[in-house]
Amino acid sequence: MSQSLTPPSFDTIKAQDPTVAEAITEEITRQLSTLEMIASENFASRAVLEAASTVFTNKYAEGYPGKRYYNGCEPSDKVENLAISRACELFGAAHANVQPHSGSTANQAIFFATMKPGDTVLSLSLASGGHLSHGHRVNMAGQFFNIINYGLNKDTELINYDKVASLAREHKPRLIITGGSAYPRLIDFAKFREIADEVGAVFLTDMAHFSGLVAGKAIPSPVPHSHIVSSTTHKTLRGPRSGIILTNEEWAKPIDKAVFPGLQGGPLVHIIAAKAIAFGEALTPAFQEYSKLVIRNAQVLGEVLVEKGLRLVSGGTDTHVVLVDLRNYKVTGKDAANALEHAGITVNKNAIPFDPEKEWITSGIRIGTPALTSRGMKEDEMRTIGGLIAEVVKDPSDEATQKSVRARVSEMTAQFPLRADEK
Ligand SMILES: Cc1ncc(COP(=O)(O)O)c(C=O)c1O
Repeated sequence: MSQSLTPPSFDTIKAQDPTVAEAITEEITRQLSTLEMIASENFASRAVLEAASTVFTNKYAEGYPGKRYYNGCEPSDKVENLAISRACELFGAAHANVQPHSGSTANQAIFFATMKPGDTVLSLSLASGGHLSHGHRVNMAGQFFNIINYGLNKDTELINYDKVASLAREHKPRLIITGGSAYPRLIDFAKFREIADEVGAVFLTDMAHFSGLVAGKAIPSPVPHSHIVSSTTHKTLRGPRSGIILTNEEWAKPIDKAVFPGLQGGPLVHIIAAKAIAFGEALTPAFQEYSKLVIRNAQVLGEVLVEKGLRLVSGGTDTHVVLVDLRNYKVTGKDAANALEHAGITVNKNAIPFDPEKEWITSGIRIGTPALTSRGMKEDEMRTIGGLIAEVVKDPSDEATQKSVRARVSEMTAQFPLRADEK
């Protein structure tokens, strides 16, 4: 088995707690032996994994570098300052807060900093590719704020900017959000800012999904156009599971106050150390190459699926996400994703715009290329995988096909370590 997922060694866990060790071993095997195509997942480097398991987990460092509530924070200050300066350099931001524990808490802090309960938010609906934390009714944000959703143009399946503008004029939101988890196309950030300025709203871009592509300069950046930018650090950005917030000068202090003491307690210093490492990695030319390849791989994969008779939402992708409409095959997202899992290919069922199916059934699947690109897979592999996906999805009840594809997947995965750059 490749060593690329096992640092630091968990020999102590094996000796002390074999039950937990067994689950870890199973997960290592799963990640190595299947094709991971969940668009929001990736394989962090050995250095990121090591940092995330260091003794910084023992340290309380409430506050910010130079202004902590506890003593003994010098090493914590050092690592947090490093993460902040690297994040600012990477994204060309005036200010970075690297303490949010996750993408959702980053968004909560931004809501807290910019609004009072009952204020109005204008955001992309979940059904159109948005995110729960932007104000879905089951989310806390949906209960505490007045959420107005914009959607997509029915013909193009692209954001309907005219509708965004008219809703903004009608509802005068305090916060306008763009970004989501299943929107495969580029976003016109300048247009959003124009609309926000016209109605006096704060403009937030949640680049959780595509921040790695921005860092790698493979797609345009929202940073120059947004008052505030939130992100996760574990998707295309390939760092530890966590979040960050970038702001202009104006929002630096209110955001810092909202993250701590507004929302969180002590920061996860071990994860901040891992973020510093990931930002350092993302500053390299190799990461720029990687980001471009992620997009190229998604485009090739999409082309193959179209050749096989499937339809892509919006007709294609500019990013790492391919959103597939399965209705030509008369198959649901739920059945397709389950059949693919049996065949060793991990994706998720996903609503397509204007989906006639229920949320837990759906007519689509979302497929992403960040993780397999980290394994070193390129166009040839994407062509093969596109063919395998179509084979399985055509008839999700065909167990013999799932079995034969599973064997092909095992052959493929055996040839690629999790990280091509860490054999
Ligand atoms: C656009 C967007 N924002 C926020 C999040 C939430 O991130 P987390 O799972 O780290 O809370 C996600 C995660 O899927 C996301 O896609």
